[in-house]
Amino acid sequence: MQTLHQIAPLRAQVAQWRRAGLRVGLVPTMGNLHAGHLALVEAALSRADRVVTTVFVNPMQFGAGEDFTAYPRTLDEDARLLNEAGNHCLFAPSEAEVYPRGRDGHTVVEVPALSSLLCGASRPGHFGGVATVVAKLFNMVQPDLAVFGEKDFQQLLVIRRMTEDLNLPVEIVGHPIVREADGLALSSRNAYLSPQERATAPLLQATLQQVAQRLRAGESSSDAEWDAARSLSAASFRPDYISVRRRADLAHPAPQDRALVVLGAAWLGKARLIDNLTLDLP
Ligand code: PAJ
Repeated sequence: MQTLHQIAPLRAQVAQWRRAGLRVGLVPTMGNLHAGHLALVEAALSRADRVVTTVFVNPMQFGAGEDFTAYPRTLDEDARLLNEAGNHCLFAPSEAEVYPRGRDGHTVVEVPALSSLLCGASRPGHFGGVATVVAKLFNMVQPDLAVFGEKDFQQLLVIRRMTEDLNLPVEIVGHPIVREADGLALSSRNAYLSPQERATAPLLQATLQQVAQRLRAGESSSDAEWDAARSLSAASFRPDYISVRRRADLAHPAPQDRALVVLGAAWLGKARLIDNLTLDLP
């Protein structure tokens, strides 16, 4: 596997692959890779001839006071895992390579309709930072396809919408959530949990399942959301939101909507955990 830190040699490599008629897949990450990330790499390898995985902790998507500095950086171990997984190129640019004039005053790609709800409400500027860096990575790599996890369900919708709105010629592939045996969604931020918090953490997923169960039984989403937030609070979570939304656009569902998603975000100690599950009502 090749490891590159600069855009020019990356472009040269991808151009050579393209001349050879090879299909190129991209997996953007912030590193500290786990089995969830590696599943995306595998999915990209099954759809493309060459795969570029990027590791870049993007300062533009972190708010003031968020965990940009604390975010785990483990590039050597990431490179080892990617090499074992059969990834072809690891692109790990510096901040200066991505934002040569600094991030203040940088062009921002905004996806207004989707960016102010749910996680966007508690993390202003977050999805603008995500959409901007993903647009930049698309332009640096110029992949045929890019794979993103459904764990960050709102992020996946933001990226799909940006790609459509800007007519970017990249196929967006969503990948199901990879979980621990006890149901906790894999996340680099799980490392912030104490052993006791780690034991409590699967309750987030279990609570979303209960919400889905009650909706299937015909109950109203507001009652189920409210009870879910209450039971998480009782278990020492600090819930940000528990919300049932329309899957296509995260709008509040109308009575006739059937394709739904139950989304949750809650703090547990120093970790802000997010999870979701999709639900098709009969
Ligand atoms: P990061 O949190 O490192 O996640 C990189 C990709 O891995 C995202 O598409 C995310 O949805 C996916 N992922 C993380 N945990 C997963 C799990 N348990 N199961 C399935 N997929 C999982 O998301 C980002 O980085 C950044 O916002 C990024 C898109 C790279 C832009 O900076």
